Amino acid sequence: MGERVTARSHDAGPASPEPDGSLLRIGGLVVELPAQDGAGGTVRVVDGVSFDVPAGSTVGLIGESGSGKTMTALAVIGLLPEGAVTGGELVWRGEDLLRPGADRRRVRGHEISMIFQDPLAALNPSLTIGRQVGEILRRDGRPRAEVRRAVIDLLDRAGVPDPAGRMRSYPHELSGGLRQRAMIALALAGDPSLLLADEPTTALDVTVQARILRLLRSIQQERGLAMLLVSHDLRVVAHVADQVVVMYAGRVAERGPASETLRRPAHPYTRALVASVPAVRTRTALAAPLPGAPATPANRPAACAFHPRCPLARDRCRVEAPVAREVEPGRWSACHFAEEVLDR
Ligand SMILES: Nc1ncnc2c1ncn2[C@@H]1O[C@H](COP(=O)(O)OP(=O)(O)OP(=O)(O)O)[C@@H](O)[C@H]1O
Ligand code: SF4
Ligand SMILES: [Mg+2]
Repeated sequence: MGERVTARSHDAGPASPEPDGSLLRIGGLVVELPAQDGAGGTVRVVDGVSFDVPAGSTVGLIGESGSGKTMTALAVIGLLPEGAVTGGELVWRGEDLLRPGADRRRVRGHEISMIFQDPLAALNPSLTIGRQVGEILRRDGRPRAEVRRAVIDLLDRAGVPDPAGRMRSYPHELSGGLRQRAMIALALAGDPSLLLADEPTTALDVTVQARILRLLRSIQQERGLAMLLVSHDLRVVAHVADQVVVMYAGRVAERGPASETLRRPAHPYTRALVASVPAVRTRTALAAPLPGAPATPANRPAACAFHPRCPLARDRCRVEAPVAREVEPGRWSACHFAEEVLDR
């Protein structure tokens, strides 16, 4: 059973000042969903998450399955059920999208768009891809012929071969890789400033994955897009992200510059994650699987949720919840003993 709602969660950390160029600031975000045990309570699946997405940058969001990555992204784009976001703020260009009267419609789907792991879930099966992309472009009242040209151009930029022919295809007529590209074209049609990419390539084979990631990177650079990249793949995150946010059981364990954080973690959970992946481990000879099972939000251990799995855990960790603090300039950790982890 989840904890009761309180105004703000303990591990939100102080909301960082709005740095110049911060496009999106997530501050103490809380998401609660109906518990699946039928008892009528709620489960806090995101518990006080705070981080910034600077304009034009890539932020990698990592953590084991069930840590709340998708729920965080869905909260940003506004696709959670009504009432699920119960706390915190989502400040977009200085405006809190959670406040009544905020211009959510304009922002979400236009300025912020999302690509999903499964394009079939995002694409309309009964409309051709050309029609779907065109519908977004038509909202601006452009003439038909111009919309058609823009659709072809977008599909072309998303790497769809023969875009003039393919625009007449229905989603089920395309391969997985092409569908993913069609969804990227759809996401770009609103000319967003932030792209949320939730495991955009995991369903694809490795060569297609690499191509799609390269494509996303080049589109991002060309358009100055910011990207929140949710990924299981630490290698991908180490390669493409500027900043990384590490989530555990609905909370942020650690955040900071991606390469530095993954090379020299300030939280035992990040350290364990990194050690579990052969290509990004730095100091252990062999990949070490993470010990124990991930905590679930419905059954989150008290105080530091990571304590049952943490090699550094001691009494304090079982009674006092760690508060996120800046352990080095630009680096935040929610571990009582972050300095020990850094010095190891
Ligand atoms: N309808 C729901 N009611 C209650 N809990 C839910 C519901 N849907 C999801 N959850 C829980 O919310 C938690 C966060 O889920 P989320 O999908 O954000 O995880 P994730 O980090 O994206 O995981 P993955 O890497 O597997 O995609 C999970 O523990 C999940 O069990
Ligand atoms: S607070 Fe304690 S249990 Fe939690 S990560 Fe740090 S050392 Fe481990
Ligand atoms: Mg997910």
